[in-house]
Amino acid sequence: MAREKCVLAYSGGLDTSVLIRWIAENYDLDVIAVCIDVGQERQDLEFVREKALKIGAVDSLVLDVRDEFVDEYLSEAIKANSMYENKYPLVSALSRPIIVKKMVELAQEHGASYIAHGCTGKGNDQVRFEVGIAALDPDIKVLAPVREWDLHTREAEIEWAQERDIPVPTTKASPYSIDDNLWGRAIECGVLEDPWVEPPSDIYTLTHDARTDTADEAEYAVVSFTEGVPTALDGKKMSFHDIILAMNELAGKHGVGRIDMVENRLIGVKSREIYEVPGALALIIAHKALEDLCLERDVLHYKLGVEQKWAELVYNGLWYSPLREALAGFIETTQKLVTGDVRLRFYKGSCVPVGRRSDYSLYDYGLATYDSDDSFDHSASKGFIDLHGLPSKVWASQRRKVGKEGAI
Ligand code: ARG
Repeated sequence: MAREKCVLAYSGGLDTSVLIRWIAENYDLDVIAVCIDVGQERQDLEFVREKALKIGAVDSLVLDVRDEFVDEYLSEAIKANSMYENKYPLVSALSRPIIVKKMVELAQEHGASYIAHGCTGKGNDQVRFEVGIAALDPDIKVLAPVREWDLHTREAEIEWAQERDIPVPTTKASPYSIDDNLWGRAIECGVLEDPWVEPPSDIYTLTHDARTDTADEAEYAVVSFTEGVPTALDGKKMSFHDIILAMNELAGKHGVGRIDMVENRLIGVKSREIYEVPGALALIIAHKALEDLCLERDVLHYKLGVEQKWAELVYNGLWYSPLREALAGFIETTQKLVTGDVRLRFYKGSCVPVGRRSDYSLYDYGLATYDSDDSFDHSASKGFIDLHGLPSKVWASQRRKVGKEGAI
């Protein structure tokens, strides 16, 4: 009888290379290796594909999903000004849902009843994989061998690999764990685990050091949005995908987008994380500046809370959940008139919006100005304040009556 199949999320690194054989030996399954291209720093993906076959995968696929990642996931992220704990633009958390979707589709296509991943038992990614898979196909079984196996050190893993002729890295291992895609890079481990230690400068690849390595002149860029999504840069129509690449370059060159934070993982651990997100951060700053102009006050205020919940759900692996979908519906509605231009200024690590305009602007010069063009009815404020402040006044008189006047 043919062996059952398992689709493995394969990166080409040591862990997932060892997994190909581990799964075949310990679970007696045929392994189909899948490497998903979400715009991680260029590696030779054809080499990665062949490597999996050499190690023993029965099939090996590379899927370039970059455009779909931008159109279906990052477009939602920018509309939601995606920031977990108001700081982290959800780099890894955004790529997992599309990776999961592709894995599930491939498992269904190939008649595989298992999906395997190489996540450890301490991170968020295991949750994102497993909850995502369950939401898309509750019948698929998940294997998470790294959570169970006894290869606890890198040395043990390398020895296990060498016994089976699995190629092992020849260069010294980087002390960092890095995950990246078009939306940025996430860096953890090594000296970064001490939250008091300043991140060494060699961890950064997308951003220049603003203290020593950026231009002395400010540079400007105009980002145009259509219904909440970037559609042009400096007046030139471009795909959102190309705008992200150009923004990574421009903002990175000016040292914008380094984030050093301690965050709360879903599994309850605080961890020190470094993110490098030049393009994502600049675009979110621009998008917010345009929303300030185009969104009605109550919508804007309410959206801030929705954004926070949206980010928390995505961070916690609940992209494919009814609440995230419902919130996305609200967010989508708010974006109908978020069309216009924002001018950003980049200078020595800062990215500041210095101009915004839109055909749908709610900014009314006549109402705002203190000049002679003023059209605001100053006399209307008196009645407004009387009624707005009425509950406070009633409360204060009552306190005076019962002899409890003054501060609370
Ligand atoms: N803490 C971030 C998150 O949970 C980044 C995780 C990065 N993953 C990694 N394998 N380095 O989204």
